[in-house]
Amino acid sequence: MTENGELRSTQWFGATGRTGMAHRSWMRSEGFTPEVFDGRPVIGIATTWSELAPCNVHLQRVAESVKRGVWQAGGFPLEFPAMALGETLLRPTAMLYRNLLAMEAEELMRANPLDGVVLLSGCDKTTPGLLMAAASVDLPAVMVTGGPMLNGKYRGTDVGSGTAVWRFEEDLVAGRMTQEECVFAEGCMARSNGHCMTMGTASTMASMAEALGMQLPYSATWPAVDARRYETAQRAGQVIVDLVRQELRPSAIMTRAAFENAIRVNAAIGGSTNAVIHLLALAGRLGVPLSLDDFDVLARDVPTLVNLQPNGQYLMEDFCYAGGLPAVMRELAEAGLLHAEAITVTGFGIGANVADAPCWNREVIKTMAEPLQPAGTGTAVLRGNLAPGGAVIKQSASSAHLLKHRGRALVFDSPADYYAVSNDPELDVDEDTVLVIRYCGPRGYPGMPEVSNVALPRKLLLRGVRDMVRICDGRMSGTAYGTVVLHVAPEAAAGGPLALVRTGDWITLDVPDRTLTLEVSAEELAERRAAWSLPAPHASRGWTRLYCEHVLQADSGADLDFLVGASGHEVPRESH
Ligand code: FES
Repeated sequence: MTENGELRSTQWFGATGRTGMAHRSWMRSEGFTPEVFDGRPVIGIATTWSELAPCNVHLQRVAESVKRGVWQAGGFPLEFPAMALGETLLRPTAMLYRNLLAMEAEELMRANPLDGVVLLSGCDKTTPGLLMAAASVDLPAVMVTGGPMLNGKYRGTDVGSGTAVWRFEEDLVAGRMTQEECVFAEGCMARSNGHCMTMGTASTMASMAEALGMQLPYSATWPAVDARRYETAQRAGQVIVDLVRQELRPSAIMTRAAFENAIRVNAAIGGSTNAVIHLLALAGRLGVPLSLDDFDVLARDVPTLVNLQPNGQYLMEDFCYAGGLPAVMRELAEAGLLHAEAITVTGFGIGANVADAPCWNREVIKTMAEPLQPAGTGTAVLRGNLAPGGAVIKQSASSAHLLKHRGRALVFDSPADYYAVSNDPELDVDEDTVLVIRYCGPRGYPGMPEVSNVALPRKLLLRGVRDMVRICDGRMSGTAYGTVVLHVAPEAAAGGPLALVRTGDWITLDVPDRTLTLEVSAEELAERRAAWSLPAPHASRGWTRLYCEHVLQADSGADLDFLVGASGHEVPRESH
């Protein structure tokens, strides 16, 4: 609504004279009858559909269901494209473009005659990107994620997209699988519409959107091809019209309490470390105070309840049939670990939404009394002279015997440098070595790609070693596993201490103590710093230049400095 109580779309479609005529006439070229301009809420449907983003390729169908709901509720739906980010194809990383999607979608929402928006996402970066946009515009908004793929099936067993890739690669390198078997497995792993069906980043961020109150209950888990996803999408179309009428905005939903709920839910589902970065960036858009340490402190009381790969056994389809996210949130609520009053797009508090949620399978969704993993084994935040701005490690995806570890560093300035020698039988490495892979942060790669969990050296794989400590300023796919210290801040390319490590230095990782220590004196580090120089910029023009000049570090969510905060939804000046 504008200050005089009108819908903002009225300033376009309700205008008299030349301006109103232009706005209406060209819309009528799409075949709409004049009644659509009678002052009803205009609902934008931001779709990240693209054939270059396979996880989102069915969103056109989802949009049709949303439209039905909007029409049903007396609104006027208009679908528009927002940048589609396909995790598997985009180079150097889809993360380089999350902020560009957020910026594009924000500007489209503000510049167009919209009163509310439905956000259609799926693949990893599209969910946080659209939420960040909606947060900065603060128009009423509902998210509908596209849902996970059906379980992968390979030779009689369930295989998880993403998670199985790492295992298949290790099996290929170690000679346990042939190239032909790998090619056959590709088709078995991804066999329907939808995003990765492990508890990877897409499933995690869909769950975060639901836990924040921005999606309808069960939205995160209905498989992409399940009729109930389309039913939920239609319901979302009805709901957004109500939200416009009630003026319930993202800033009223995504409060500090909602973020605390999301962080605890992330711990309970064994969610991706990428949620840390995305939630920090989202909070920055809303002015909600949130720090890296909140993730450690709030998660310490929360056990892992959901038995999904990569931490556990099952996949998203199983999670859905077991009761989905509401069953998990009910466990948290009954343990006093959920802010029940946090308002959601249903118009009710999240506690009311999940109060009666049933669980149908306790193998998949565990109880607080008998969890999958005990409290305090989720994502830990590490600090020390190697990561003064912090770093994270996903304990549940790590090997217990490596969580306290001291080893000598073997340092590489890029994953490519490492892979150039990783198969060398003469490589000076053993299971105690700490692999340091650097210059992979926001400025470094650029875009902070998911390259941190480099495959183990071949000679160790052949000896049966399945894990070793790795330290990196990049990210790791939510589908991946291993004892990998991630998001080291400041990154090497910003002059962080990671840039000063040398092969042979001793490094101590102490996760119980939350420390990461480079055993080199401050004097020696000062000498090394004096000899260090900033790497050359990656680009002299375009988005990459803008990104590298303005991106914040991982501990601030890797947003651009000038995108932090909100610009609101004030109607811009006329165009003609
Ligand atoms: Fe899109 Fe995994 S590649 S969700």
